[in-house]
Amino acid sequence: MTSILEQLTELNTVAVKAIASSNSLDDLEQLRLKYLGKKGELSQILRGMGKLSPEERPVVGSQANVVKEEVQTSLEQRKHNLLQAQIEAQIKAESIDVTMPGVNRPLGRIHPLNGVVDRVLDIFVGLGYTVATGPQIETDYYNFEALNTPADHPARDMQDTFYLPGGNLLRTHTSSVQIRYMENHQPPIRIIAPGRVYRRDTVDATHSAVFNQVEILAIDRGLKFTDLKGTIKVFLQQMFGDDLPVQFRTSYFPFTEPSAEVDVQWRGQWLEVMGCGMVDPNVLEAVGYDPEIYTGFAAGFGVERFAMVLHQIDDIRRLYNSDLRFLNQF
Ligand code: DAH
Repeated sequence: MTSILEQLTELNTVAVKAIASSNSLDDLEQLRLKYLGKKGELSQILRGMGKLSPEERPVVGSQANVVKEEVQTSLEQRKHNLLQAQIEAQIKAESIDVTMPGVNRPLGRIHPLNGVVDRVLDIFVGLGYTVATGPQIETDYYNFEALNTPADHPARDMQDTFYLPGGNLLRTHTSSVQIRYMENHQPPIRIIAPGRVYRRDTVDATHSAVFNQVEILAIDRGLKFTDLKGTIKVFLQQMFGDDLPVQFRTSYFPFTEPSAEVDVQWRGQWLEVMGCGMVDPNVLEAVGYDPEIYTGFAAGFGVERFAMVLHQIDDIRRLYNSDLRFLNQF
């Protein structure tokens, strides 16, 4: 009997020590199996009980229970401590040091050309206009013919055109959107059409073969030149400033009659900023409107020119180069 009791005491000491120095929940589970499992050391020792006398058995039995409880308590305690340490380590790893300097992420900006278009659209939408768009690859009809510019018209020389194989062309102006829109809508019409246009221009500080325009069109009963003047003046003053001097000069466009060019006085000089006029009766007839009932006005301008004037940009090419040193200024 003494040898079994000694074995129990030995197991108790060794197990408690091993448990105390275990470092993970996995290790702990291995130790539990090793000492208390079905085939563990405690069971192994108790197998020797068969050889004991009936008086000795309860003594060994109760000692075995004491050892079992003690080992179990050690296991639980160690488990608790390991879990606690795990939680503390996690909290430490996940805590945020609010005194650390932040990571600087630069904010994107609106490109100056889009900035101008956004402002123009805001102003005209505020005046009740709807945004319209059309294709950049156009037919001769929409770009010229329906705009009162037949094939032999000298005004075609005003806009050197990129022709595509097969007879289509890259639109030279957003005026083509006027025709497309009128074909599919009945008056009253008030639209604003921003878009990219193309011309066979040699690129220099003030010219680009690809640039952006905005087209304005209003058709209704009884629209007069004073409506055009008032609208353009309100628009330009909202764009450039309230007491901006604006002047209208007579001009010529095939699709308007009468036609005008508009200048603004900007930093001491008159600058031409847009073309406009009353929609020519031939254009109204081309889309099936009766010019005896409806009149209208139209206007168009280059977005690059507006951006250059507003932001004092000296070279149009800066608007296309994506140079961040330039773009960061807007
Ligand atoms: N389409 C003309 C151009 O590209 C600009 C223009 C002038 C548009 C007069 C108009 C207008 O709508 O009425 O030069």
